[in-house]
Amino acid sequence: MELLDKNILITGAAQGIGRGIAEACLAQGANVFLLDINEDVLKATVRELKHIYSTKIFAQQCELTNTDSFKESLTKGLNELQVFHGFCNSAASSQGIGPLETFSDEDFDATLNLSFKIVWTCLKEEIAYLRSNRIPGSIVNISSNSAIRGYAFNSIYAAAKAAVNNLSQSVAKEVAKDSVRVNVVSPGTINTPGVKAYFDKEPSAREKLERTILLKRLGEPIEIGETVSFLLSERSSYINGQIISVDGGSSIY
Ligand SMILES: NC(=O)c1ccc[n+]([C@@H]2O[C@H](COP(=O)([O-])OP(=O)(O)OC[C@H]3O[C@@H](n4cnc5c(N)ncnc54)[C@H](O)[C@@H]3O)[C@@H](O)[C@H]2O)c1
Repeated sequence: MELLDKNILITGAAQGIGRGIAEACLAQGANVFLLDINEDVLKATVRELKHIYSTKIFAQQCELTNTDSFKESLTKGLNELQVFHGFCNSAASSQGIGPLETFSDEDFDATLNLSFKIVWTCLKEEIAYLRSNRIPGSIVNISSNSAIRGYAFNSIYAAAKAAVNNLSQSVAKEVAKDSVRVNVVSPGTINTPGVKAYFDKEPSAREKLERTILLKRLGEPIEIGETVSFLLSERSSYINGQIISVDGGSSIY
C-alpha cells in the first residue's frame, strides 16, 4: 500500500489511461480526486470504482485548458481532502490528422491547446500549491512515445507531447529545491476506448503494429497506472526529471 493516506488528483480520469491511473492509485491505498470534461462518463466511472475500492473517491467536471476552471476544481478538491500529495496530468486530445500541409491553423491551435496547454494550465497551479504549502509532492505528466519517435500524420500532437517532456524537465529543475519531483510517463500504444474502436475497424493495422512491439501486444491502462502510482509514491524518491517509456519495448524495436 505505497500510497496509503496520500491524496492524489488525476486529470482525464473518466476513461482510458486516466482511469487506469486512478485504479492503480486506489489499489495502493490512495484517496483520489478525479477531473474530466465528460461528466456522464466520469460519474459512471466513480460509481464503478466505489464498488471496488474503500478509500475516498471524489470527482468534478472540469475544462482543463481553462486556468480558472482548474483553480476552482483544485479548491473543491481541497475542501474534500484538505491536502494533495501528488498530481497526475493525463487529460489530452488532439484535433485533425493527416499530412502536415493539410493541417489548418485552427487544428494546430486546438491540438497545442488540448495536448500542451492543458498540461501547463494544471502544472503551474499544482506547483504553486505544493510550493506555497511546503509540500514535498510528486507530479507525473503523461506524454507519448510519439514525442521521442515522431508520429507521421499526427505531427502537431507529437510536437505538443515533446513540449510536455521538455516543460516537465525544465520545471523539475526549478522545483527540486522544494523537494517537488516532476516526471513523465510516455506510453506506447495502449488499449483505451479510442484505440480499441480504431483497431476493431482495422484489425490488420493492429496486427501490423503489434509486430513492432517487443512484447507483441498493446499495453493496458492499468500498466501505465502502475508506473504512475510508483512515481507518485516515496518508493521512487530519487527519480526526478525523467521520461519513462511504458511501451512493451516498442521504442527500442
Ligand atoms: N491511448 C494511447 O495509446 C496513448 C498513447 C500515448 C499517449 N497517450 C496519452 O495518454 C493520455 C490519456 O489518453 P487516452 O488514450 O486514455 O485518451 P482518452 O481520450 O481515452 O481519455 C482522455 C480523457 O481526457 C478527457 N479530456 C480531454 N480533454 C479534456 C479537457 N480539455 N478537459 C478535461 N478533460 C479532458 C477526456 O474526456 C477523456 O476522458 C493522453 O495524454 C494521451 O495523449 C495515449
